[in-house]
Amino acid sequence: LTRERYPVRRLPFSVVSGEDLAAFERIVPGRVITDPEVLEASNVDWLRTVRGSSVLLLRPRTTEEVSHILRHCHERNLAVNPQGGNTGMVGGSVPVFDEVILSTALMNQVISFHDMSGTLVCQAGCVLEDLSRHVEERGFVMPLDLGAKGSCHIGGNVATNAGGLRFLRYGSLHGTVLGLEAVLADGTVLNCLSTLRKDNTGYDLKQLFIGSEGTLGVITAVSILCPPKPRAVSVAFLGCPGFSEVLQTFSTCKGLLGEILSAYEFMDAECMWLVTRHLRLTSPVQESPFYVLIETSGSRAGHDAEKLNDFLEQVLSSGLVTDGTVATDHMKVKALWALRERISEALSRDGYVYKYDLSLPTERLYDLVTDLRARLGPRAKHVVGYGHLGDGNLHLNVTSEAFSPSVLGALEPYVYEWTAEQQGSVSAEHGLGFKKRGVLGYSKPPEALHLMQQLKALLDPKGILNPYKTLPAQA
Ligand code: FAD
Ligand code: MLT
Ligand code: ZN
Repeated sequence: LTRERYPVRRLPFSVVSGEDLAAFERIVPGRVITDPEVLEASNVDWLRTVRGSSVLLLRPRTTEEVSHILRHCHERNLAVNPQGGNTGMVGGSVPVFDEVILSTALMNQVISFHDMSGTLVCQAGCVLEDLSRHVEERGFVMPLDLGAKGSCHIGGNVATNAGGLRFLRYGSLHGTVLGLEAVLADGTVLNCLSTLRKDNTGYDLKQLFIGSEGTLGVITAVSILCPPKPRAVSVAFLGCPGFSEVLQTFSTCKGLLGEILSAYEFMDAECMWLVTRHLRLTSPVQESPFYVLIETSGSRAGHDAEKLNDFLEQVLSSGLVTDGTVATDHMKVKALWALRERISEALSRDGYVYKYDLSLPTERLYDLVTDLRARLGPRAKHVVGYGHLGDGNLHLNVTSEAFSPSVLGALEPYVYEWTAEQQGSVSAEHGLGFKKRGVLGYSKPPEALHLMQQLKALLDPKGILNPYKTLPAQA
């Protein structure tokens, strides 16, 4: 399936032998998995669009074990696929051929939490939702949140530089990750697990690993700065008559909500159709061409409510918004968020999903969706637009009954060319992984690509870490 759609040849790595298995059994006793049934889940991605054929899954518990595994793989020239929660969207988390899967699932210990600064230090395999619970009990929140929180690992989040639903407020992991520990391809442990806010001693090496998608090293631990838990959280779910009103509502709320604005997400009517139809969720507002979800997070409920009411009055009276609902109760807030967070789940129940994750100038964010609807016509089941509008990030998704080369041909390279013309990014937050490795050139100049190849060669001279991922295949 994978190799037909994405032509790629196996590179001359070694094949796992009985002696390798024995060596791994000594490094991680009882955690060397060869059972094909268990391996099945680790060989296929969340979207079920790519599948590898690995025969070996290793589950280390410590950095030292990761180091020993990589040292062995390096010596033996065995390719390795680091894997967290396997929720990645670009096929980076599963092997392409028979790469050894190195899972962080058992590296799930919190190492420390500092109550004063909010600095969390933990192993890479901690599940994001577990970390959220841990820090929330102590009066803090994780600086990132995403629909995959119940499964994704913090190491995977850092490896993909995940954006998500709190990006607007707390910014990128490039700012909130204070330090990390990574094991290099040859087994060297690089301890940059600093907890300092400021540290300008030499090059900031940790940044190289943030967003490197497992191609430069295996992240084994991270230290991350958690902001204080907001005392008051409100969510407004609103219907807008057009995309221009979505944009004007955004400008209005930036002005009127100011520092308490913590998320501005949007979805179109087709997204609402999908979540109500496939997931049986109920729309809380009248049917509209567009919906926006606005979250405010502040320190005093009364103050926030006053601001939110002023804002709502203005957008309703001016016709920017035609209907809306507001929640402050935790369960109601969660129910409103589900409408937006679960779109990807609804899409995957609709058929084969062609997924694009683009950064575009906000004013033109929806033009491509309209354009593609006309271009694809009845060949597509649905063409939808949703995403992190406040960050200029569009999720453009197309579904068809089954994979269709003709739909793909109409989408690519058209979508990438369109994006490059706008000086946008062909991957705003999901990374390139396996499926998008060939399109890096639409968003970066040849000199940048060349430097990336050189960095890869320096850190992983044998190319054993996540081969076939992130960087385009070399001639
Ligand atoms: P995996 O999927 O296991 O791996 C992802 C990549 O990182 C792979 O290349 C893998 O090799 C590498 N990797 C994993 N762990 C390590 C490690 N310890 N060291 C080195 N490399 C490693 N993304 C967003 O940015 N924003 C969103 O809002 C968002 N929402 C999502 C919602 C849903 C429902 C789903 C399914 C996914 C969503 N994603 C989103 C995709 C996102 O990339 C992942 O959810 C998450 O960041 C990946 O974490 P993971 O542990 O599952 O990593
Ligand atoms: C989202 O924002 O919902 C995620 O990035 C997942 C997706 O794009 O499907
Ligand atoms: Zn997203």
